Amino acid sequence: MLLLGVETSCDETTAAIVADGREGRSNVIGSQVERHRPYGGVVPEIAARAHLELLVPTIDRALIEAGAAYRDLDGVAVTAGPGLVGALLVGVAGAKGVALAHDRPLIGVNHLEGHVCAAQLEGAALPVPLVALVVSGGHTSVVHLDAGGVWHELGSTIDDAAGEAYDKVARFLGLAYPGGPEIDRLATDGDPTAIAFPRALAEEGYDFSLSGLKTAVVRELRRREAAGEPVSVADVAASFQEAVVDVQVAKTMAAAQACDVGDVLVVGGVAANSRLRAAMDRACQQHGRRLHVPSPALCTDNAAMIAAAGANRLAAGQASSLELDAQPGLSVDGLTVPLPGWEPAG
Ligand code: KG4
Ligand code: ZN
Repeated sequence: MLLLGVETSCDETTAAIVADGREGRSNVIGSQVERHRPYGGVVPEIAARAHLELLVPTIDRALIEAGAAYRDLDGVAVTAGPGLVGALLVGVAGAKGVALAHDRPLIGVNHLEGHVCAAQLEGAALPVPLVALVVSGGHTSVVHLDAGGVWHELGSTIDDAAGEAYDKVARFLGLAYPGGPEIDRLATDGDPTAIAFPRALAEEGYDFSLSGLKTAVVRELRRREAAGEPVSVADVAASFQEAVVDVQVAKTMAAAQACDVGDVLVVGGVAANSRLRAAMDRACQQHGRRLHVPSPALCTDNAAMIAAAGANRLAAGQASSLELDAQPGLSVDGLTVPLPGWEPAG
């Protein structure tokens, strides 16, 4: 089964060709980063216009790189939401056009379901039930994915999402957008114990709060500047990152224990963070759990993950109608992720 995936929920125009929901034949990212960089963040209007310009050439490249033609496709999967409405509309309209013109099924996919399904593109069969930490620019959740693929959200952020906190702190530190990868890079030269930033809600349930940490970074920097104390930006970045990672790891491991699952999945753009990957690896080894993290390129937004999720839905007989709408506020309430080929945990 060969699917075209299309993902335009934020600032990357992406298209991919995936075979059988598992094998990426191409995964093309038409990056808009340079267009948004002067503004220090994503400008929704610029994103929507850039998607319009980039979508067709990006789909063309995905087909060429995969050595495929439209007639070879068995369907078109597209992110229906959540995301920026103008951005989503371009992808949904484009995918509908392909589906209609070539008489192929259209499959609308939840963006977060896509992030989870990125894991199946790594070849190994994935076990359910599992606990997933979903961390991106718009989301921070701890999820219990049960054996039937039902998404039970155990907790989420009560203010900023993880990626949003990285990007805001990076901007304050004068780093380039997007700030997450910049902090990750800079932190490797810093001391994570240099500044004891707060670990909000660390011991309380599965919800996260990151806005206090962001304020603490700003306050600490201003205090040191006023006191004439030298500030190492690398130390600030490393200490901030450590506070974020500590809480993410603690809550994920607590959830895995409470749900009595042996498998832990970490996905979303922030799952590309090197410190989070290393700390999760260590914690899972200590607690005898198996860790699954897609490679960094499959963690950040891409269309192969959407095609993978679409393949699962198509195999389960769940195509969408051509009435499919962009749903900027699409939530995960009641979401069931069909997981054909995922294995019962052994
Ligand atoms: O999943 P994603 O590509 O887009 C959304 O669905 O939001 O996540 C983007 C977020 C951005 O906030 C970006 O700064 C962050 O992921 N990010 C990182 C890293 N790479 C991307 N954050 C920390 N460390 C990284 N290496
Ligand atoms: Zn994402």
